[in-house]
Amino acid sequence: MYKIAVISGDGTGPEVVSEGLKVLDAAGKKFNFKFETMSFDFSGQRYLKTGKLVDEKDIEELKKYSAIYLGAVGDPEVKPGIIETGVLLKLRFALDQYINLRPVKLYNSDYCPLKDKKPEDIDFVVVRENSEGLYKGMGEFKDKGSQNEVATQISYNTRKGVERCIRYAFDYCRKRNKKKKLTLCGKTNVLTFAWDLWERTFYEVAKEYPDITTDYAHVDATTMWFVKNPEWFDVIVTDNMFGDIITDLGAMIQGGMGIAAGGNINPKGVSMFEPIGGSAPKYTGKNVINPLAAICAVGMMLENLGEDKAGKAVENAVIKVAQTKLKSLAAGKMGYSTTQVGDLVVANL
Ligand code: IPM
Ligand code: MN
Repeated sequence: MYKIAVISGDGTGPEVVSEGLKVLDAAGKKFNFKFETMSFDFSGQRYLKTGKLVDEKDIEELKKYSAIYLGAVGDPEVKPGIIETGVLLKLRFALDQYINLRPVKLYNSDYCPLKDKKPEDIDFVVVRENSEGLYKGMGEFKDKGSQNEVATQISYNTRKGVERCIRYAFDYCRKRNKKKKLTLCGKTNVLTFAWDLWERTFYEVAKEYPDITTDYAHVDATTMWFVKNPEWFDVIVTDNMFGDIITDLGAMIQGGMGIAAGGNINPKGVSMFEPIGGSAPKYTGKNVINPLAAICAVGMMLENLGEDKAGKAVENAVIKVAQTKLKSLAAGKMGYSTTQVGDLVVANL
């Protein structure tokens, strides 16, 4: 019996989560697993009403669950930064979800903004470090507000943190068993402390994986290759900030935020799965948002729970729907409503 903590969140979060749970339910019946859900109301909305974010007691409670399923958090009424650090990053950090796994896979050429790229050309995974780097929140103001103001923001990288991420990426690349190529995406030519550590660690760990081909690309060049030659990539490992940036570009070449999912993974703890787009406030309550990303997150969650067959089946059902039914992956342009898309996935499962 899996215990799933559900954080529907803000905006269109609840709408896409409800389609994800519909698919999870159907998958449970078909593949014979049982689960129960418990709702948690962490959100921008709750913060506006009560001032509450995620606290230590919440974290202890969440540790009792098999996985967390998150819709989206963020409300335009709340000053930027509060919900991000107080809810989303708080969960990632406090639960030590040190990997952010983001598959970039094109299901249908019609959805790709790149000319002449086919599904076989865009199929890679970004392993983003999810607990350190610029996201650590280290830095300070000096003489704030004055003409001499200085603001520093430190990228904090530990050998242990870098190594566990790189090891995860090598293992993942081996298990994925496709091109068996791992690309380190960094900036060794300018950020000479952080990326020196990353590069040394990468090539040291690589010795233990002679079956994996290694490669290196600067982050700026990586964005160029995503557009020009995405077929070069298999698995990419990178730090928190670069991973954040390149996965938004990745989402666009796979068809947009409507299809992009991610997992925040603690291999020995509680992991959290989410569509990577935001709460899309302007579409709230209209039944037009694309739930496929949230449904793909369910597929990832199932694979992570060890329900590989069910996870694959969910992905395949999404592929069928994306290939044969939807006019577009964009909100309001799918030719179907949010709930209809959920039903289509269930029907194809
Ligand atoms: C993401 C998001 C978050 C991030 C924000 C909302 C804090 O952009 O999941 O990529 O920067 O990690
Ligand atoms: Mn992002």
